[in-house]
Amino acid sequence: MIEKQNFLQVNDLSIEEIEHIFDRTKFLKGKFKAKEGFRPLVDRTLVLIFEKQSTRTRLSFEAGMQQMGGNTVLLNNADSQLGRGEPIRDSARVISSMSDIIMIRTFEHSVIEEFANYSSVPIINGLTNQHHPCQILADIFTFQEKRGTIRGKQVAWIGDANNVCASWMQAALIMNFTLHVSSPPGFGIDLKNTQFSNKNLIKEFEDPKAAAKDVDLIVTDVWTSMGFESEVTERTQSFQAWQVNQEILGHAKKNVIFMHCLPAHRGEEVTAEVIEGANSVVWEEAENRLHTQKALLEVMLLGKLG
Ligand code: CP
Ligand code: NVA
Repeated sequence: MIEKQNFLQVNDLSIEEIEHIFDRTKFLKGKFKAKEGFRPLVDRTLVLIFEKQSTRTRLSFEAGMQQMGGNTVLLNNADSQLGRGEPIRDSARVISSMSDIIMIRTFEHSVIEEFANYSSVPIINGLTNQHHPCQILADIFTFQEKRGTIRGKQVAWIGDANNVCASWMQAALIMNFTLHVSSPPGFGIDLKNTQFSNKNLIKEFEDPKAAAKDVDLIVTDVWTSMGFESEVTERTQSFQAWQVNQEILGHAKKNVIFMHCLPAHRGEEVTAEVIEGANSVVWEEAENRLHTQKALLEVMLLGKLG
C-alpha cells in the first residue's frame, strides 16, 4: 500500500499487502504482549468519526494509535458540526487539513467515498452499511493463528448477507478460500454490492445446515444491523432457522471455529452454548482488532511494504 491510499473495502488491498499487514500484526502483538513499547507514530494524529455506536472499533483504534505513540481525536454527530449537516466535502477538507489519517463509521458507503474524494489524508472504513473491512483483517488473522493459511479452506456465513458478509466475500476472492453463504429469502447476497460472481469460491445455500457441512469456520452476525432497526420484527421472524446452534455446528468439521464480530445476541443469531463453547474464538477475534489495526495504521501512515 502506498501512502494516501484509502482502505474503504477489503478489495483496496492486494494479497501481498494483507500478508504484510499480518506479518506486522504478529510483530506488534508480540510487542504488546511483552509490554515492550513501540512508538513509530509519534506526532501523527488519527481522527475517529462515528455516526453509529461502537465499542471495539473505537477502543482498538484509540488504544492502538496511543500505544504506537500517536494521538487521536474523536468526533461524533452529537457534539460536532457533522450532526448539523455541514457538507461532507467541507468536513473532509477541514478535518484532513489538521490530521494524518481518518477513520469513519457511517451509514451509506457513498458518504465515505465522497469524504475520501475530498480528503487530503488516507481514509479507513470503520464500518458502513455495505462493508466492514477492518473486521475481516482481524477475523482472517485470528483464523490463521489457529489453523494456518485460510487458502483452500471452507467458510460458512450463516445469517444476514450484510456489511461484514460483503467483506468476507471480497476476502474469499483475494485469499482464495470457499465461502458458503446461507441467508433467509430476501436477505441474501447482493451481487450489486460485492461485484462478485465467482461460483467456485462463493456459493449460496438455501439450507444453513447444508452450508455448514464440513466447513472449517462458521461466521455469523446480528440479524438486524445498525441502521436497519425499523425491520427488526420482520427480521426476527425470518431469521429463526438461521440461528447458529450446536446442531448447525454438528454439520461442520469436528474442530470447526466459530466467529462473530460482536456485539452478539445470545438466543437470536447464536446460542449461549455456541458462543461460550470450545469452538468459539470470539474474544481473541475481538482482541485482534487491536493488533491488526495497529499494523494497518503503521502501513498506511509509514508506507512500509517490507
Ligand atoms: N465488531 C465491531 O465493529 O464492534 P463495535 O460495533 O463495538 O465497534
Ligand atoms: N453488521 C453489524 C456489525 C456491527 C459491528 C452492524 O452493521 O450493525
